[in-house]
Amino acid sequence: MKTIEEYIKTLSLEEKTAQLYQAAAFYIKATEAENTGTLDDICLSKEQLYNVGSILNVSNVKEIKEVSNLCVSGSTAKIPPMFMLDVIHGYKTIYPIPLAMAGTFDESIVEDCAEMAAKESVAGGLQATFAPMVDLVRDARWGRVMESAGEDPYLGGVMGRAQIRGFRKGGLCSCVKHFAAYGAAEAGKEYNTTDLSDYNLYNFYLRSYEECMKEKPELVMTSFNALNGVPLNGRTDLLIDLLREKWGFDGVVISDYRAITEMIAHGFAEDEEHCAEIALNNEVDIEMVSPSYMHYLPKLVKEGRVSEEKVDRMLRRVLQLKQKAGLLENQCPKANEQKENEICLSSEHRSIVRKAAEKSIVLLKNNGVLPFKKTDDFFVVGDMASEKDVMGSWRAHGKAKDCVSVLDGLKNILGDTLQTDGDIAVACIGEKSYMTGESASKVDISVSKADVDLVKNLHEKGKKVVAVIFAGRPLVLTEIEPYCDAILYVWFLGTESGNAIANILFGNAMPSAKLTMSFPRAVGQCPIYYNYFSTGRPKKKDDYHRAGDYLAAYQDEYNAPLYPFGYGLTYTNINLSSLQISNTEIEENGSLTVSVLAKNEGEYDGEEVVQLYVQDKFGSLVRPVKELKAYRKILLKKGESAKIEFALTEEMLRFYKTKDNFVSEVGEFNVFVGLNSRDCLMETIKRI
Ligand code: NOJ
Repeated sequence: MKTIEEYIKTLSLEEKTAQLYQAAAFYIKATEAENTGTLDDICLSKEQLYNVGSILNVSNVKEIKEVSNLCVSGSTAKIPPMFMLDVIHGYKTIYPIPLAMAGTFDESIVEDCAEMAAKESVAGGLQATFAPMVDLVRDARWGRVMESAGEDPYLGGVMGRAQIRGFRKGGLCSCVKHFAAYGAAEAGKEYNTTDLSDYNLYNFYLRSYEECMKEKPELVMTSFNALNGVPLNGRTDLLIDLLREKWGFDGVVISDYRAITEMIAHGFAEDEEHCAEIALNNEVDIEMVSPSYMHYLPKLVKEGRVSEEKVDRMLRRVLQLKQKAGLLENQCPKANEQKENEICLSSEHRSIVRKAAEKSIVLLKNNGVLPFKKTDDFFVVGDMASEKDVMGSWRAHGKAKDCVSVLDGLKNILGDTLQTDGDIAVACIGEKSYMTGESASKVDISVSKADVDLVKNLHEKGKKVVAVIFAGRPLVLTEIEPYCDAILYVWFLGTESGNAIANILFGNAMPSAKLTMSFPRAVGQCPIYYNYFSTGRPKKKDDYHRAGDYLAAYQDEYNAPLYPFGYGLTYTNINLSSLQISNTEIEENGSLTVSVLAKNEGEYDGEEVVQLYVQDKFGSLVRPVKELKAYRKILLKKGESAKIEFALTEEMLRFYKTKDNFVSEVGEFNVFVGLNSRDCLMETIKRI
């Protein structure tokens, strides 16, 4: 077996180039006759393609082996290709979409799910996934909010790290994406431009990628967007100065799908050759699908526009990744069809995703109708009641036929005794799976007219309405909210969806999840987020604006969201009191203890998420009205109380004053503790 250095010494420039290319599987499989069709597009010969470094989008072990064999036997370098796929929330056993998983505020279930997905993927022949996606999002019009952890940079980092740990435990390499600020797409329009001050970028949008670096992910993916006038693959300051040098990332940087040559359409690069020159000089190690490296890398090196030393450095990183995945010793190291069949959709994996699904359901309203008793007289209506495609976008190899619908889930508890008449209507409504994800932006994120009519009709007929709302994003619920007796927001929960929903409806499992994006009252409030800056004219009371108010407000809607970040009810009633701080002052590198008393005063055992926020009251730069700094997920039995403690460190008070200056400033800070970002107890401390 050759060492990496021997490969670097002996490979031709063309062979090196191919290692830096990622092809779609169908390019390799296309017959010579099809060559003029699909392959025309990339203008590459089969001989060039066989040496390819990595391949995306393959369907099963058989196909992976077939493609790998084609490559190895046809290639001159004889280095097996690496296989990657978007395993975002499951491979075949699908767990809730990442936005829902973040709402569990439970890193261990996130880690367990990622590990489970990794084990299935590895048995399926994959070596890397394109996850976690940790883009900060504030605008639910953007279809990809479903794939992120929501609007908080701290939570984004925590959830991203948990995913990386889980994937690693299961043997799969991770790819942190989309670096950077892809989630700031203007007006929520997919692939749109982004424009952010350094202050905003460093304090909000970059934080979760930075945090993920602590877990040493194997890959980072660059994003499609132009940021402040420069498409990401052209941002030397972010790709080299920040990512490589400051953050010390020494793994593989991969572009997004054709994003390198899209620099032409952006109006940033003149032609393909120019694209390759820019991205290579920024050490984007792998070009995904577009062929600019394959066409121009050798020429650029020969002309001295890209140094061979740089190319070797990029190649070394790619080969190190392949070595780690076992590919320098073995063609398809862990692909194992028998194991894949054994573990995928096994009862063990189903129970992991069912637990995750139960923990992801958010109870937004309940006037006491939930949980049901077995004797309750209810019936089920709505488009989504028998829908089996409840996986949402990015389902890898998940299939609707393997999923449990709401009706199936209820029958699993009640047998075939479901009513068609009754006092309580369970209205299963909302988005279909295909309505969110990549390329699924919308200008109107209100509940559809058909769903509004259904809910209103039921209400007018005197029924109690329990709305079970499927969605990949926050929807505007303002129109239906008054007619609902209870609202369960169930996102897309994956394979075990219906069983989890039924368990929550009957109280076999307790709702405990929280929202990680603010839910707007009207689309016109987007972008809307809890950690905003005040203005010189803040509106203190959230009533309607009156002409002549001259305050930062709307004439026709409140400023506040319908449901704030961190919000979600339980079946019980856990109250917080006695907020205490161990010290009113904190100094550099110091720490103090914040404690609060939590008491379960309701009728059931229950879980809650106790959230700690701070506000820097004034500073050399204006600071957000609240920022999440820590949380604790607690389980309290009926009647039980507990003292919850947080360590509040001076480091938690820091912010990027400039991109190289992460500090806290002296002065007063408000410290808040609550069960959502709106209703909090408050104390004040002083940074001295
Ligand atoms: C484009 C998406 O933006 C990215 O997230 C994904 O990983 C790639 N396509 C590959 O499917």
